[in-house]
Amino acid sequence: MISTREFVIDDYDAAVALWNLLKGIEVAEGDSREEIGAYLLRNPGLSRVAEENGAMVGAVLCGHDGRRGLIYHLAVAPAYQGKGIGKLLVGECIAQLRDAGIVRALILVARDNSSAHSFWLQSGWEDVPGALLMGIDL
Ligand SMILES: CC(C)(COP(=O)(O)OP(=O)(O)OC[C@H]1O[C@@H](n2cnc3c(N)ncnc32)[C@H](O)[C@@H]1OP(=O)(O)O)[C@@H](O)C(=O)NCCC(=O)NCCS
Repeated sequence: MISTREFVIDDYDAAVALWNLLKGIEVAEGDSREEIGAYLLRNPGLSRVAEENGAMVGAVLCGHDGRRGLIYHLAVAPAYQGKGIGKLLVGECIAQLRDAGIVRALILVARDNSSAHSFWLQSGWEDVPGALLMGIDL
């Protein structure tokens, strides 16, 4: 029996273990316990976990800047993939973003993660032609 709930900071270690297990997710700057704690406080209830018997089987970070929603690090444990858990978690993120008045969300997918790209396309997300992702370390 899979259940979902808010991602709280006590989930940090299990989430990092899951993210590190999966190809396609890079634990990077912004992902320290302190930074994730601040992110969860800033975006209460938007990040989600899925559990079976109290063990984490899926996780996702979600937030918004008041204009765009952003989803990060969607992960489902290998033995639980293909059972609708990813879709469930993303659906909860989208519902929370809608409740917050956000009308568009973005996801960053690693260029070599064709499996995740297919998942997002299958889930109704679209490529953003003409957009070029850029960044800077602050
Ligand atoms: C991507 C991921 C989160 C999908 O989670 P999941 O629980 O396996 O996906 P679901 O079972 O909820 O699938 C939902 C729908 O997407 C489809 N789907 C799932 N994976 C897919 C894939 N790789 N390609 C195309 N469609 C896919 C399912 O068939 C299902 O379709 P339906 O709604 O018509 O039944 C999971 O495979 C994962 O953790 N991958 C590794 C980490 C990763 O790459 N994360 C994404 C970072 S951007």
